Amino acid sequence: MIFVKANDYDDLSRKAADLLYDQILFKPDSVLGLATGSTPVGAYQYLVQRYRRGELDFSQTRSVNLDEYCGLPEDDPNSYHTFMRQNLFDLVNFCPKNCWLPNGMAADKGAECKNYDRLIRSFGGIDLQVLGIGQNGHIGFNEPADCFTMGTHEVFLDQQTIRDNARFFSSPQMVPISALTTGIRSILQAKKILLLAGEEKTEILKKALFGPVTPRVPASILQLHPHLVVITTGTVTGNVRGN
Ligand code: GLP
Repeated sequence: MIFVKANDYDDLSRKAADLLYDQILFKPDSVLGLATGSTPVGAYQYLVQRYRRGELDFSQTRSVNLDEYCGLPEDDPNSYHTFMRQNLFDLVNFCPKNCWLPNGMAADKGAECKNYDRLIRSFGGIDLQVLGIGQNGHIGFNEPADCFTMGTHEVFLDQQTIRDNARFFSSPQMVPISALTTGIRSILQAKKILLLAGEEKTEILKKALFGPVTPRVPASILQLHPHLVVITTGTVTGNVRGN
């Protein structure tokens, strides 16, 4: 685990963007596992700036997002499709055909989940997975549960997640109750993982990185990854598991 202490949110965002930049420069057709939520927005803004300065080319880069709400059409203002288009995809030269998110409107959710896993496998897995962390330790929408779910699946959102994400909706009642999320397998099989967390996530980050590995704190499974980079503005100390 590589731990990077950022001075503030801007520093966190710049450092995260630098890692993404290096990844795309080193392998232009990289498969990125991208995340939504407010934490990675600043990193995306830095990537857009560097693209506009002519330093970055996304034309061959592929992206498979972590998750999508069920029941929101792609063009809904709160869908993660819209989020990604507004914060990154439409602002740089990503090919639309190279940008993937689960289809939360699929009539057959089981088939959609299997296809999403098949797609990620067909790419040979994810090169760099970006993650935020929920206050309850969720990654993507892998919520606290009795066991880790390996494949992409439909999940009923935790009450805490609904409360936390209500800030993006006109009322908590408007937050979808379920989502499709990639599972633990494609996240853990990513060659590198970049976990971003602001200071408000310090307590859950400590639990996730230095507590027991348990599906009750889904992000704790990241302790087992051989190439995890954590960038945080918080002060987090503990005994790092040797890997
Ligand atoms: C959502 C997303 C997660 C994200 C989390 C934290 O629930 N599904 O991928 O990590 O929000 O969001 P934020 O960065 O806004 O705290």
